[in-house]
Amino acid sequence: MIVVAHLSDIHLDGREQRADRARRVMSYLNAAPRPLDALLVTGDIADHGLASEYEQAREILSASFPIFTCPGNHDKRAAYQQVLLDGDGAEEASDDAPVNRAYQAAGAVFALCDSTIPGRDDGRLSDATLSWLDKLLAGAPDTPAFVCFHHPPVTLQYPFDDIRQFGEERLAEVIERHPQVVAIVCGHAHTPAATTFAGRPLLIGPGVASTSVLPWERGTFLDLTAPPAVAFHVLGDDGRLITHYRAVT
Ligand SMILES: [Fe+2]
Ligand SMILES: [Fe+2]
Repeated sequence: MIVVAHLSDIHLDGREQRADRARRVMSYLNAAPRPLDALLVTGDIADHGLASEYEQAREILSASFPIFTCPGNHDKRAAYQQVLLDGDGAEEASDDAPVNRAYQAAGAVFALCDSTIPGRDDGRLSDATLSWLDKLLAGAPDTPAFVCFHHPPVTLQYPFDDIRQFGEERLAEVIERHPQVVAIVCGHAHTPAATTFAGRPLLIGPGVASTSVLPWERGTFLDLTAPPAVAFHVLGDDGRLITHYRAVT
């Protein structure tokens, strides 16, 4: 069994309230009696992409289990890479090149893809990112894989569908070539949700900083009072994936 925790959209902005919500979630995860196999953080880590915000993220995103991140539309690639990824690849860190990373943990592959477009809120996986992903998956055909990025590649029937990921038919072609992809994991929506994409589960992590208000709920756009929440994606030994969602009060 593989237990992968997933949080998203912590939007650290220097305010204590944002940091406190992220700290509460990490305390909850770190208190697990059985260490988690990995934690995925699917973007919008810093609210303004400032180095100081990533320094705070480094301090808060601390655990005995591996933590894998990808950038969101609020992140700035160069600062994200230089501060949060420990300068890994910093010599070529720039806002122009997508920041894609592959990791292995607990017998699974985690592809953390950059779906951002600098200066824009909507997203797209570049051709370079898609060919990187295709090659990565082709190199480990028998290892279960989680494909992760920030922007959902589908409409969610909620107020922010106009800033989703576009060009998604290119991603679907890649996923369809690789049956070992067990799930596609993303954030950005600030609401826990689940659907399918290219025949696989598409699992959207709740927002830590805030929760989107759905069209049939009271309120406008973002609820800042709902508790932060996390997801647990559990891959059983029988190959079945189950997702549990938890609010952290
Ligand atoms: Fe966000
Ligand atoms: Fe976002």
